[in-house]
Amino acid sequence: MNVKELNAVAKAMVGKGKGILAADESSPTIKKRFDGIGAASTEENRRRYREMLFTAKGAEAYIGGVILYDETIRQSTSKGVPFPKYLNDLGMIAGIKVDTGAKALAGFPGELITEGLDGLRDRLKEYYGMGARFAKWRAVINIGKDIPSEFCLRANAHALARYAALCQEAQIVPIVEPEVIMDGDHSIGRCEEVTAAALDAVFAELQAHRVALEGIVLKPNMVISATKAPKRAGPEEVAKATLRCLKAHVPAEVPGIAFLSGGQTAEEATLHLSLMNRMGKLPWELSFSYGRALQAPALEAWHGKEGQFAAGQKALYKRAKLNSLAHLGKYESAMEADAA
Ligand code: 13P
Repeated sequence: MNVKELNAVAKAMVGKGKGILAADESSPTIKKRFDGIGAASTEENRRRYREMLFTAKGAEAYIGGVILYDETIRQSTSKGVPFPKYLNDLGMIAGIKVDTGAKALAGFPGELITEGLDGLRDRLKEYYGMGARFAKWRAVINIGKDIPSEFCLRANAHALARYAALCQEAQIVPIVEPEVIMDGDHSIGRCEEVTAAALDAVFAELQAHRVALEGIVLKPNMVISATKAPKRAGPEEVAKATLRCLKAHVPAEVPGIAFLSGGQTAEEATLHLSLMNRMGKLPWELSFSYGRALQAPALEAWHGKEGQFAAGQKALYKRAKLNSLAHLGKYESAMEADAA
């Protein structure tokens, strides 16, 4: 393992106002997104949609990495250039989702454990050969009555750490993603408490597994009220609580933190990121690794129609640019009107 090189890749993914485009929806998930716009989830439609995102002119100035799915990393542009090569040539580092999904945790109703460790060493070797230089593994933590259990946090942290160690052995930067889910009616305070416990469990296991923190990117949720909370916290409070939690629970050796959007609207996710980056100097890069918050407007503009391919690209470009400004703490809501 070459930690220096891992650190350089991590910094390139989220440094200099750049962030990550999460385009690694599994086939069932992308089908759900396509159902929403009435498009058929055929292999060619999925390829064309990803091509639309990846070839949006100018977006490479704002996107340092793109997370692909197993099907996507094997696909090519219409001109026959394999996606990972196309992206890497433009400085958008190709990455790959390697977990195989969150399944019910036996004996713990309502809780999930992420699978995908079996055969991972060989898969990482193959993905590296295809051009992937980072990977992603998402752990899912639900909040509810009496959950999450300490056991669930530990089991998920253990899996994340085993994954991260295997990635670094393969010279691949692991994105470590413990996602505390926004569903439910819990308060922002409860989210902060659970996020803190999840991060503590993750860093304890990473250390036990001898993972080099300089060679990872952390992908956390923001500390935020649940979607159905009776009184939802405003943007300033979300930004403050999230920073307080991260400063207390994420070691300074971690080069970059890239948030997931988790169901926030595109504008909310951008505003929250910008507010945090305006709150003084931070030990790590604080950036984005959004899926829905980058793609939803593009998906809507495209609507599965070839004639709206360019409109979809424009929408993606706009979100990439605004989130880049947010990474620099320079985004204002007023920019929404004229950023295209
Ligand atoms: P969202 O930004 O849509 O939450 O997706 C990010 C991601 O990669 C989740 O694993």
